[in-house]
Amino acid sequence: MNTKFIPLVIIVVILLGGLYWVFGLPMVGDPEIPTSPEAIARGEYIYNAGGCAACHQPEGTEAAIGGYVIEVENPFPNTFYTPNITPDEETGIGGWTGRNFILALKHGRSPSGGFYWPSFPYRTYRNMTDEDVLDLAAYVMSMEPVNHDNPDHVLPAWQFDFLMAGWNILADVMEGEPPAIDQSNEQMVRGAYLARALGHCGECHTPRNELGMMILPEEFTGSDIVSAPINEEALSSWTAYDFVGLLELGMTASFDFVGGEMADVIEHTSRLSQEDKDAYAAFFTRGNDGSGGGDDFNFD
Ligand code: HEC
Ligand code: HEC
Repeated sequence: MNTKFIPLVIIVVILLGGLYWVFGLPMVGDPEIPTSPEAIARGEYIYNAGGCAACHQPEGTEAAIGGYVIEVENPFPNTFYTPNITPDEETGIGGWTGRNFILALKHGRSPSGGFYWPSFPYRTYRNMTDEDVLDLAAYVMSMEPVNHDNPDHVLPAWQFDFLMAGWNILADVMEGEPPAIDQSNEQMVRGAYLARALGHCGECHTPRNELGMMILPEEFTGSDIVSAPINEEALSSWTAYDFVGLLELGMTASFDFVGGEMADVIEHTSRLSQEDKDAYAAFFTRGNDGSGGGDDFNFD
């Protein structure tokens, strides 16, 4: 090879490497979706804890056929229709593998390598363990397939999904880290996992920057959707018991009932195990019990 081409070769390699880094699919392996009844049951629990039905099973439908409408101004008007996630081959996600589920839920990537929009809360679900994603997949693939098509999203013509390649990389850097919790407190760690990986509380309660990315260091301090903060400070007068009452009944510490989209959230939190409701409460109230203690709570 003529040596004068070497710099060109290096430039091409760097460019291809860069493109691969931006557009290539993350290495997630090809794990099997479990099929045992226990995995399906765990998956059903995760499906509920992740609030999947709120978006994929619109009111009045029996199955996860999608069609729920999400309107966003970010700052351009976008209308999203949630997809059918029953395992129908033609209109749903029939034939999806474990790899497809991990790429979708944790990386926002479609089986064809395309990019999902963050109206699908994959920036939150990426905190899920692979094991939980695969159990969830076991449950979703055990659903009855339903043939049902939904309208295409309505987006400005220039808004190509590949723009999300850069957005995802920027979000990795710009979202930052949420406030630290006591990692030695198992109940708190479980509560943080429920809130930050499954229940996607921050998607509505955490402020976003101009690019629509969550500002995690300011987690739960209020957003365009809900201005009232629900961070540790704002909930300082709530006991863990009050918080469990919210998750079960939608009643706040000042005896108001939450409405709107928060009522949909209560629909799934009310069905969590007592242990998980207590964990949520421990995480959000950081152990306020009126006596200043930080011990575990149990309200059986
Ligand atoms: C806030 C609403 C919302 C919630 C909650 C939500 N999704 Fe979605 N989901 C969407 C939207 C919107 C899309 C389509 C994104 C796109 O087209 O870019 C989507 C896409 C998907 C896809 C890709 C389907 C396809 O045909 O490519 C899967 C699978 C999926 N969601 C599963 C889930 C699961 C499982 C949960 C619960 C853990 C969940 N979703 C929770 C809104 C939501
Ligand atoms: C889809 C958006 C959305 C999600 C997700 C969401 N919330 Fe909310 N939340 C709201 C809205 C809207 C309100 C205001 C409801 C009202 O005032 O009627 C609210 C209100 C609340 C309040 C009452 C605040 C007060 O002092 O009155 C608490 C506490 C709360 N949410 C906690 C949570 C927790 C915990 C989660 C996660 C399990 C969560 N929210 C997930 C939208 C959301």
